[in-house]
Amino acid sequence: MKQKKSAVQTKAKTTTAGSTVKVALLGFGTVGSSVARVLATSKFPGVQLTHIFNRSVERKRSSAAAKSVPASVVWTENIDDILKSDVDVVVELMGGLNPVEGWIRKALAAGKSVVTANKQLIAYRGTGLAKLAAQYNVHLLHGAAVAGGVPVITGMQQGLCGDQVTRLSGIVNGTCNYILSRMETGADYATVLADAQQLGYAEANPSADVDGYDARAKLCILSRIALRAELDPDAVSTQSIAAVEAIDFSYAKELNCTIRQISRAQVEGTLVHARVAPMLVPLSSPLAWSHGTQNMVVASGRFGGDVVFSGHGAGGEPTAVAVVSDLLAVAQGCKTVQLPVRRRSVTGEFLAPHYLRFVVDDKPGIVAAMYSVCSRLIVSS
Ligand SMILES: NC(=O)c1ccc[n+]([C@@H]2O[C@H](COP(=O)([O-])OP(=O)(O)OC[C@H]3O[C@@H](n4cnc5c(N)ncnc54)[C@H](OP(=O)(O)O)[C@@H]3O)[C@@H](O)[C@H]2O)c1
Repeated sequence: MKQKKSAVQTKAKTTTAGSTVKVALLGFGTVGSSVARVLATSKFPGVQLTHIFNRSVERKRSSAAAKSVPASVVWTENIDDILKSDVDVVVELMGGLNPVEGWIRKALAAGKSVVTANKQLIAYRGTGLAKLAAQYNVHLLHGAAVAGGVPVITGMQQGLCGDQVTRLSGIVNGTCNYILSRMETGADYATVLADAQQLGYAEANPSADVDGYDARAKLCILSRIALRAELDPDAVSTQSIAAVEAIDFSYAKELNCTIRQISRAQVEGTLVHARVAPMLVPLSSPLAWSHGTQNMVVASGRFGGDVVFSGHGAGGEPTAVAVVSDLLAVAQGCKTVQLPVRRRSVTGEFLAPHYLRFVVDDKPGIVAAMYSVCSRLIVSS
């Protein structure tokens, strides 16, 4: 009770009083170093980078990426130097749940606002962390957690909150889109995956991307904001793109379609139908036009119809733009619209166009046998 009283008395510091908001970066990797560069280049008034935290920090301090960092910044590998400092906003760009969640909780409880690009953290722990931020009267923003530099979260949170969004459909994993859109021109999966790894688009272990886990975390974040539905990410069915072969694109083309990893969620009564899978996409759909690492999300609203968000879904600088935009919003005390969110059960059952490709022995009667099995399973051809 005592703790709650002191918590609500905390007030997120803003630049509106003409003071400076002090910022710490947790993580000086691809996005963290880009955020430092954007801040140094743009010199936003009232925002000052004061601390950078990373393990083995000397390695980071002496890197080429550190050249844009002001000499006054304190570099540290001790998280308490941040948590016990007078920093106002912690920008978390390390990724993962552990140890990040514990540190973010401590930062919020210490009265520091938090900006993060961490989709796993927000998909699995976002609701609890948002309550903690509200309890301590500070901000928690995560605009970069879905679609990198595309302002899909802020667009839905602010621009579409007046609609009743009933369906989300989109491409939210740039790695899969790069792989599938290159396979469209005849390249095989293994070659394109190796290229994606060399270009830094895919991890050495690509499972999180190609098996759909990264996309389903993002789909759950978007569902919470746009559909106002809290989903358990582990309940959302995923299907890997690794089984797609170059030949599938030829058959898809005969159906006037291509193939993309699609993340889809739709409200049906009390249920949400949600799934991440390689799906047939009509060539006339805007989703078929997105190539390379581009992301695209279509939100379908009851009153406003379809709204499309599209752009660079990944990369240090595009993602840094979303992070810095959140940072400026926090620094200026901007309030985000909050509407009630309900926990919903998830089903992966969708009525969607499919095609089946059979590899069979060339024997008499084989086609008739396949028809018979298909009609028994009520599949039309
Ligand atoms: N890259 C993108 O395009 C993109 C787009 C949207 C969102 N994001 C999100 O942004 C976040 C950062 O991504 P990134 O691509 O910048 O990753 P990254 O290049 O791997 O950078 C992460 C940094 O955090 C440090 N770090 C990680 N765990 C740590 C720990 N336990 N203690 C201390 N330091 C730690 C790493 O140090 P080491 O160098 O020692 O590993 C590294 O410097 C992630 O949540 C990611 O999902 C990234």
